[in-house]
Amino acid sequence: MVQTKKMLQRPRRNRKSEVIRQMVQETHVSAANLIFPLFIIEGENQKSEVSSMPGIYRYSIDNLLREVESCLKLGLNSFDLFPNIDEALKDKYATESYRDESLYLRAIRAVKKNFPEACVVTDVAMDPYSSDGHDGIMENGEILNDETLEVLGKMALAHAQSGADIIAPSDMMDGRVGYIRKVLDDNKFTNVSIMSYSAKYASAFYGPFRDALNSAPKFGDKKTYQMNPANQGEALIEARLDEAEGADFLMVKPALPYLDVIKLIKDNTELPVAAYNVSGEYAMIKAAIQKGWLNEQRAITEVLTSIRRAGASVILTYHAKEVLENKWI
Ligand code: PBG
Repeated sequence: MVQTKKMLQRPRRNRKSEVIRQMVQETHVSAANLIFPLFIIEGENQKSEVSSMPGIYRYSIDNLLREVESCLKLGLNSFDLFPNIDEALKDKYATESYRDESLYLRAIRAVKKNFPEACVVTDVAMDPYSSDGHDGIMENGEILNDETLEVLGKMALAHAQSGADIIAPSDMMDGRVGYIRKVLDDNKFTNVSIMSYSAKYASAFYGPFRDALNSAPKFGDKKTYQMNPANQGEALIEARLDEAEGADFLMVKPALPYLDVIKLIKDNTELPVAAYNVSGEYAMIKAAIQKGWLNEQRAITEVLTSIRRAGASVILTYHAKEVLENKWI
């Protein structure tokens, strides 16, 4: 027999039954923590699946309203909207992004009119509307920072006027949080929040999203504005700036490959931290599930729990609806 008398700590005691395991569980995921990204297309009664994101669709506004309604019934109350813009409407300056009758602004107004209780998060960045497929104004192969801020300000104001609850700038231009905050405040939108994509990395995991919106860069990459995946300290610089400029939430994106960054930012701020469990993370899990290589419920809940454990209060995730529909959380 092994000598065990002196073993005062036996951590397995706290795992001996389901009741005790639940009693001592440190992290939970609930509907209140989740934001569901939704893709929008022009037309009527349209619903087209994103081929690299099984189970995720682009909806025309009428079907978007049906989708939002079914989510609200599940207790899923927050949505982040993204538009798929007709190529003919794109230009160098993303002017479609603040045109009053644009698909996006009509969608925001429709959701808020029909479901005032829903929390609508809007994406501020030029790429879905840019003929260059970039998040900023491009000239001679360079992204112009300060000129881009003007476009972002117009876009954010149009979103606020259309009823957005939270504005989420995903562009990574310097100074955009402060600039957008000022535009909103000058126009009396002091109650509209800013969820800043603070540490947004130049990641391979956005591929399926760009398929969904047909928004991939026409040339070059996003490395002069999105962060180098190898850097951690730089995330703190970005987070501190955004906090000083008036952000209400600090976001890390992607989520799973950057759990250390979520934790780092969480440990250095009192603001709520958000994490975006992006399209490529979703695609990866779904592909393995389709092949029968992972257990769906266990893999998905483990992913979401891990993002919360790392320190994220809020998770933007394409899994939001299915976890509630299936009562996995
Ligand atoms: C655009 C934007 C992107 C995502 C959210 N907003 C793509 C990009 O920066 O190229 C990615 C989301 C996802 O992959 O799920 N500014």
